[in-house]
Amino acid sequence: MDSILVKGNGPLNGQIPIAGAKNACLALMPATLLSEEPLTLTNAPRLSDIKTMTELLQSLGAEVSSLQDGQVQALSSHNIDNHVADYEIVRKMRASNLVLGPMLARLGQAVVSLPGGCAIGARPMDLHIHGLEALGAEIELKDGYLHAKAPRGLKGAVIELSFASVGATENIMMAATLAKGTTVIKNAAREPEIVDLADCLRKMGAHIDGAGTSDITIEGVDRLHGATHPVVTDRIELGTYMLAPVIAGGEVELLGGRLDLVGAFVEKLNEAGVDVLETKAGLKVKRRADRVKAVNVTTEPFPGFPTDLQAQMMALMCTADGTSVLEEKIFENRFMHAPELIRMGAKIDVQGGHATVTGVDRLKGAPVMATDLRASVSLILAGLAAEGETIVNRVYHLDRGYEQVVRKFSGVGAQIERIKGS
Ligand code: EPZ
Repeated sequence: MDSILVKGNGPLNGQIPIAGAKNACLALMPATLLSEEPLTLTNAPRLSDIKTMTELLQSLGAEVSSLQDGQVQALSSHNIDNHVADYEIVRKMRASNLVLGPMLARLGQAVVSLPGGCAIGARPMDLHIHGLEALGAEIELKDGYLHAKAPRGLKGAVIELSFASVGATENIMMAATLAKGTTVIKNAAREPEIVDLADCLRKMGAHIDGAGTSDITIEGVDRLHGATHPVVTDRIELGTYMLAPVIAGGEVELLGGRLDLVGAFVEKLNEAGVDVLETKAGLKVKRRADRVKAVNVTTEPFPGFPTDLQAQMMALMCTADGTSVLEEKIFENRFMHAPELIRMGAKIDVQGGHATVTGVDRLKGAPVMATDLRASVSLILAGLAAEGETIVNRVYHLDRGYEQVVRKFSGVGAQIERIKGS
């Protein structure tokens, strides 16, 4: 397994391009199953998760080709000859469950392995199941697989989500585009990736109102046609790289960065003593003083502070002036980066869903281990500001969500390299 070696090397300066959003693309790609006509996605990120989704769609009979070095995904599901999403693929990536709604709507049946838990939590699918059953699907769990069928097609319904689940909102919204009648999703997720998916579905002929608010209304249609759609900018990659000049010093411009995608995150950065400036090309970030102030963070569904930036913010708070409390309210086990940061000299006390971080002057480089996608990049951020060398092991986690991470960090002066594993 490869590792990444990073050395604290002082301020970072320059520009970092931000790619299309992994979590938007992983919902947009299954949308091809809703139509016999081709769907083309541009600005697609080049990530291993996108390759996994490609593999899954191809296993169902869809044609998927990655053009222009993976930045364009050309999809066509004219001939879907298999409706079983295999455990071997689904267990690698939970987002595989997003083929359930589209397959039910297009084929009237689907067999999708339950993804099983992952490092950050149990990640059940009860909200997905509840919503699709409300649309008339019959869903049974057998041998670890969800067996779903809708022999008489799907019928619009009013669905109230007990939690604003991103994936459940996406599955239900996609299924409802071909249901008979009107569907209303109440307490829907409001993430930008939901808005991006709705924009793409509307280009395919779907009738959707309210995406980005808590109430989404979908009028079913008989069929959807093909479309071309650009994947929205990745707000989590954006927030991650915004922290590079904050933790290491210097000034970095994030190309393609949009303030509306990272509102709550930028509010917290301003509170900590960081300036974020909108430019023609994106966002320019610089800390006001040599040390940021400690701030408290609570993760919430959008537009609150994103759980996917919690680990990265914790890395920053490790060298902040004062004590900060980070409360993780979305996932039950998302502090695995804490013990690794403690190995680097951080002072962190984790009690259930709260982590109390007391800032130290400087972290010390050490060998550390990545445990999940966002934890892995928080260790690189910590390494950028640490004294000496940090080796981050198990970086396959990184490849899932961060394209060209070494190139992007070294492009602004970071001393970082990838070491080929055995
Ligand atoms: C999406 O996961 C993202 N993944 C996650 O990003 C992100 O952390 C999460 O939304 C929250 O913003 C993709 O978009 C591919 P949820 P998803 O359904 O849809 C519970 C990353 O690092 N829940 O909003 O799975 C669940 O257990 C990844 O890029 C149920 O209880 O998230 C969790 O505690 C990590 N029952 C909470 O809701 C359900 O049926 C949030 O889950 C569904 C979810």
